[in-house]
Amino acid sequence: MNHLDSTDPQVLDYMLVPHRNFNLINGVHSPDEVDQIQNWEIRDSDIFAVTYPKSGTIWMQQILTLIEAKGDVTPNTEHLNAQRVPWIELIGSEKEFNATPSPRLRVTHLQYKFMPLAIRQKRGKVIYVARNPKDVLVSYYHFHKYAAMLETPKDFNDFFEKFMEGKVFGNCWFEHIKTWYANRDNMNFLYITYEEMIKDLRSMVERMCRFLGKDLTEEQMASVVEHSTFRTMKQNPQANYKTVPDSLLDHNKGTFMRKGTIGDWRNHFTVAQSERFDSVFQEKMRDLPLSFAWDINDVNSAT
Ligand code: PPS
Repeated sequence: MNHLDSTDPQVLDYMLVPHRNFNLINGVHSPDEVDQIQNWEIRDSDIFAVTYPKSGTIWMQQILTLIEAKGDVTPNTEHLNAQRVPWIELIGSEKEFNATPSPRLRVTHLQYKFMPLAIRQKRGKVIYVARNPKDVLVSYYHFHKYAAMLETPKDFNDFFEKFMEGKVFGNCWFEHIKTWYANRDNMNFLYITYEEMIKDLRSMVERMCRFLGKDLTEEQMASVVEHSTFRTMKQNPQANYKTVPDSLLDHNKGTFMRKGTIGDWRNHFTVAQSERFDSVFQEKMRDLPLSFAWDINDVNSAT
């Protein structure tokens, strides 16, 4: 089952359910099923794109299917991105995972501790996509305003506090990236950022292809890139979520393909919020050799 293609107008009580220090969503995830994921049998050809929410999941769903299809869009027109590259944590995923022929492309927002243990024996491949967390917070705030399965924030300040406390699905952004990155040597692992993809999508697709052992012609590569731009995906009904029923995403209140840029946090954060965020970032990230572009000019001026 995919919660996004349900046409059932029934409104579920989608509250957060704490499970092993991680918040799941009632009606979307099952704690027992999530606990089974670590036992899943993994094939070397399995590919997992891992994201904290709002960090480029749908973008990866688009790119991975296009790389697999060598740039041919025709096999990808029938199903939503979310159906072609489903989340492993959704209710009913295991059966569907076992029944899928290789290569199995999957996404997840889960923390490392929930993942199939086999990835620690370097089975399958993992691509972790990180996005600067101020923009993640803003994108997530807007998503909470129109996604039925998430609590509507009172205002931006209310959501800011919830995000800082990790009281959202995905929990603490810092914990997510730290635990994944700290374990990178245990897996076949590629770390990339949303901002690098904004800066030079083609180079990033090439990097993914090298990591995945895919050899695309010039024409195939150009097609992957063309069909993965924000402009193209915003028009693409498989990628823009516009066909998802209003009972799940209230399209009068928001748009999934919203801005697709770097630095929108400047339009939302107060100076005090930004300074507080910066100090938490410095403290929590001090042992990680990772940096982010915080403004669109940071990537444009570097090109
Ligand atoms: S979710 O709900 O967690 O699956 O959301 P996710 O797909 O991870 O993130 C949604 C944000 O990614 C932006 N997006 C893109 N930006 C640039 N280029 C492309 N092609 C692209 N595709 C998706 C999308 O617009 C959301 O970010 P915001 O800042 O809200 O616009």
